[in-house]
Amino acid sequence: MSTTSLPTPDRAAELREALLAAGFTADGLLDLLGAPAYAALARSETVPALRATRGPGDGALASLVRLFLLQQPEPYVHAAEALPVEAALADGWLRLEGDEVHATVDVRPYGGPDGEDWFIVSDLGCSVGGAGGIGGIGSREEGVVLGVGGASTTLAGITVRTPVGSALDVGTGSGIQALHASRHATRVTATDVNPRALEFTRLTLALSGAPEAELLTGSLFEPVGDATYDLIVSNPPFVISPGARLTYRDGGMGGDDLCRTLVQESGARLNQGGYAQFLGNWQHVEGEDWHDRLRSWVPRGCDAWIVQRDVQDVTQYAELWLRDAGDHRTDPAEYARRYEDWLDEFEARGTKSVGFGWITLRRTDAAEPSIVVEEWPHTVEQPLGDAVLAHFARQDYLREHDDAALLEAHFALAEEVVQEQVGAPGAEDPEHVVLRQNRGMRRATKVDTVGAGFAGVCDGSLSAGRILDAIAQLMQEDPIVLRDRTPEAIRLLVEQGFLDPVAGRTQ
Ligand SMILES: C[S@@+](CC[C@H](N)C(=O)[O-])C[C@H]1O[C@@H](n2cnc3c(N)ncnc32)[C@H](O)[C@@H]1O
Repeated sequence: MSTTSLPTPDRAAELREALLAAGFTADGLLDLLGAPAYAALARSETVPALRATRGPGDGALASLVRLFLLQQPEPYVHAAEALPVEAALADGWLRLEGDEVHATVDVRPYGGPDGEDWFIVSDLGCSVGGAGGIGGIGSREEGVVLGVGGASTTLAGITVRTPVGSALDVGTGSGIQALHASRHATRVTATDVNPRALEFTRLTLALSGAPEAELLTGSLFEPVGDATYDLIVSNPPFVISPGARLTYRDGGMGGDDLCRTLVQESGARLNQGGYAQFLGNWQHVEGEDWHDRLRSWVPRGCDAWIVQRDVQDVTQYAELWLRDAGDHRTDPAEYARRYEDWLDEFEARGTKSVGFGWITLRRTDAAEPSIVVEEWPHTVEQPLGDAVLAHFARQDYLREHDDAALLEAHFALAEEVVQEQVGAPGAEDPEHVVLRQNRGMRRATKVDTVGAGFAGVCDGSLSAGRILDAIAQLMQEDPIVLRDRTPEAIRLLVEQGFLDPVAGRTQ
């Protein structure tokens, strides 16, 4: 782990002002670099951005991009036009070599959800150099603190953003989740096993103009003791690997034990009504249903919604993380040895594939908790925080309504649901009808003629039972039989958000 000292945040406000004045923001970057070079940066490819900033007289913004994003040395005189260079040198954001200055950390503009101009501060070298992998960044690799990745923004997007008193970010890294939480939580606590990560979080918050957070070093919930929170989030080091080599991704516990422990232990740290939201990896083990494995992780007193987004067989999975570490650039014999280590580990655990997904818990202490474990690998519309809230509200509704109550209730078709008919071209009747959401989870579900007719009529004016009676008459079916068999389908349409209960309406 590095012993290099990090910048001090004391004059971060002054630096922030200079960065903003130069247009060093997400929008400013897009303008300067153009969409392709901007998108390439997110893939850690810096060559297009280097070309875009090379022209003469590009000014302060180009200097800042070269310094902090592309990690190029910049003549002192140019840097002095872009930021308070003496203060930045004294506080350790820059170092001087001859007549050039170098950045000591990566500083990346990051646009908040309401247009906030935020900055994420992380270790140098993680976001440059293309597909080289993290192994390329040298001896600091074990304690390296990464910036924002796809997983970071996924978790930030699914997080429920209700105003709360307290929020906890476990494994904060460079602080992105804590930064988001600072908008809607009165008190934010961020923990990490890596003390350097907490220093980076401090810098990220200060440079973003966010309030300070409580920063605690230690593993999982150990540093917070018995404290409880309204919101707990974690993008943990979930990688299932043969050894704890890289702190940012290998949790140091065997198999998926770290994710399981995090989920199991979070229940006792949640206030009533509080949410815990995690990303995770889990093993698919020979002879075990993965749904059951995940269900067994849910702590007592919590409802859960677990969505598996992706599954990779063990070879794909090993290759992904070997590349992430840059192992593919080592000696081929060494690469083969490491690959074998991964496969040995999976074989020993009976693991055939690895699932990736989202875990949300809500503490209700309900006698019959609602636990939904499902697979939804298709594109969704982020942010999904409101969709998560709506999911749990629907679960409450369904728990409180038996079949008879459902038939008395009124429903409205959710916004932006469309019907698709699928069948052979030219055929008179469709083989099946699909309802599709164009918002949120963007679910699609097959329905039969009754289901399609029912959904089509739902505008909140008639009770479900009366609609079914009308459909029975049209289709010359027995209304009692229809009332008997349809609530199950209605329940599913409500659970998946195709139908919204209309409050306060009965028969
Ligand atoms: C994948 S990174 C996530 C960073 C950041 N929260 C984000 O969303 O981008 C995982 C973080 O967990 C930290 N970590 C690793 N093992 C941990 C443990 N046992 N307890 C707490 N944090 C841990 C790592 O140091 C790293 O900062």
